[in-house]
Amino acid sequence: MQLIGDDIIISDKALDYLKNFLESRNYSKVLVLSDENTQKHCAGAITFPVDKHIVVPPGEQFKNLSTCTQIWDALLEAGADRSSLLVNLGGGVVGDMGGFAASCYMRGIDFVQVPTSLLAMVDASVGGKVGIDYRDYKNMLGQFAPPEMVFIQPKLLETLPERELLAGYAEMLKHGLIANAGYWLELLEFNKRRLKLQIEESVRIKHAVVEEDPDEQGKRKILNFGHTIGHALESYALSEGMDVLHGEAVAAGMFMESIVSSKAGLTREDIDQICAGIRSLYPILPFKEDQAEAIWTLMLKDKKNKSGKVRCVMLPTLGEAIFDMDLSFPEFEEAFRNYLNF
Ligand SMILES: NC(=O)c1ccc[n+]([C@@H]2O[C@H](COP(=O)([O-])OP(=O)(O)OC[C@H]3O[C@@H](n4cnc5c(N)ncnc54)[C@H](O)[C@@H]3O)[C@@H](O)[C@H]2O)c1
Repeated sequence: MQLIGDDIIISDKALDYLKNFLESRNYSKVLVLSDENTQKHCAGAITFPVDKHIVVPPGEQFKNLSTCTQIWDALLEAGADRSSLLVNLGGGVVGDMGGFAASCYMRGIDFVQVPTSLLAMVDASVGGKVGIDYRDYKNMLGQFAPPEMVFIQPKLLETLPERELLAGYAEMLKHGLIANAGYWLELLEFNKRRLKLQIEESVRIKHAVVEEDPDEQGKRKILNFGHTIGHALESYALSEGMDVLHGEAVAAGMFMESIVSSKAGLTREDIDQICAGIRSLYPILPFKEDQAEAIWTLMLKDKKNKSGKVRCVMLPTLGEAIFDMDLSFPEFEEAFRNYLNF
């Protein structure tokens, strides 16, 4: 068992640790939130008594206020009170939305994260950010609300579709690129047998950054590498009904934000290595050159901007990142074109 910080457990018996945790607390009710897939594939691993299972449809398109309303209705119907616990059993969508629903319900009830996708294990479940999408904007409603504990059981990944696994892997590549060049090089060759140790390394990196700057006043912003462009691609795709996963959009975002990192000092050689590495793992997403302006418009609405300027994270060198770097439309457009024609 790996304990990272004092609240993240990584173990193939993590759900047993959750059972022990529940026995040590006196919750009035234990409710489990899952989506249809994680209910089917992961709920069977639960070994503790559950008062109610709340099941929502899967996918980013349901990470919204209307699904939240269903969760709040289910909590009310089950008689959940301020001493109840919500267990979020699912990927980043269930974790973000369940955490948000729990943090609003009766001004906040306890919740724990049991991430079941790779992306949720290495990223979404760590750091206490919860939220939902609003209109065409990703995570527009949300807050910082730390879970009581995070229980990561890597074995749950056995039923995760390969495409989702690779999407989560993008956030691990990000951890290497912003914090540990050796780890990035190791990740260039995808190897499932190394995944458990790599999950630990990624969680360690994310946890260390968050611990240094929990409210994202400074250093934590480096975790947004690839996300300024990635989020805009994802929002655009969502509004157009295109089939693009969060991690795939982030991979494309990292590709482009590496290109613009030349102005932060990243060498041509490193940029080429990053682009080739990302391209070897992910297909080029089906965007078109004439969509650059619409995607840029979405970037202008990014929560991380200041004074109407688009800002992003850049890499001065492999394994280091700097935040609040200005990005102009011509710089983005050129990187976008390079990406589409790579
Ligand atoms: N809070 C944060 O700090 C943070 C960080 C990164 C990403 N996120 C959010 O995370 C979300 C993406 O997370 P995601 O990629 O996990 O998406 P997701 O929750 O939609 O899960 C992906 C798919 O895999 C299925 N699934 C999950 N675990 C499974 C399993 N073990 N077996 C079979 N199927 C399984 C889900 O039902 C879903 O269909 C985005 O909304 C993003 O904004 C949040």
